[in-house]
Amino acid sequence: MSERTLVLVKPDGVARGLTGEVLGRIERKGLRIVALKMLLAPRDTAEQHYAEHEGKGFYPGLLDFITSGPLVAAVVEGERAIPAFRQLAGGTDPVEKAATGSIRGDLALETQLNIVHGSDAPESAVREIALWFPELV
Ligand code: PPS
Repeated sequence: MSERTLVLVKPDGVARGLTGEVLGRIERKGLRIVALKMLLAPRDTAEQHYAEHEGKGFYPGLLDFITSGPLVAAVVEGERAIPAFRQLAGGTDPVEKAATGSIRGDLALETQLNIVHGSDAPESAVREIALWFPELV
């Protein structure tokens, strides 16, 4: 079933010059990039994006980080795009959870600096695409 997911190349990934690497892996998997932009995330957008994590210890630092520099947002489409990109990304902790061969497993060391975000469920994807790409809705 074709579906859409929201992908972010986070500020660490952009700063390290890994945008092309991430987008290339998405395309080589067979997924399609149907919308793409680079922006400095407004604080309120970051707060809405990570609202479910409000109150957790890492939340304030995560907001500071995600608004610290330009990021790349993409809408990615294809067969089972949500789990397919989660597989490409690897687990949240790049050392303990992300498999070798995944973006995080190959390219990251720290949980906060884990390069990418991908929607975790269809409802999240709809909400996140509307948040980052209101012009598409
Ligand atoms: S949780 O608590 O299990 O729901 O967390 P998880 O779904 O794995 O992660 C949610 C997002 O928060 C980021 N995260 C962290 N950032 C900084 N420090 C720590 N310790 C930390 N733990 C989780 C994680 O990268 C997730 O961001 P996204 O953008 O969704 O990948």
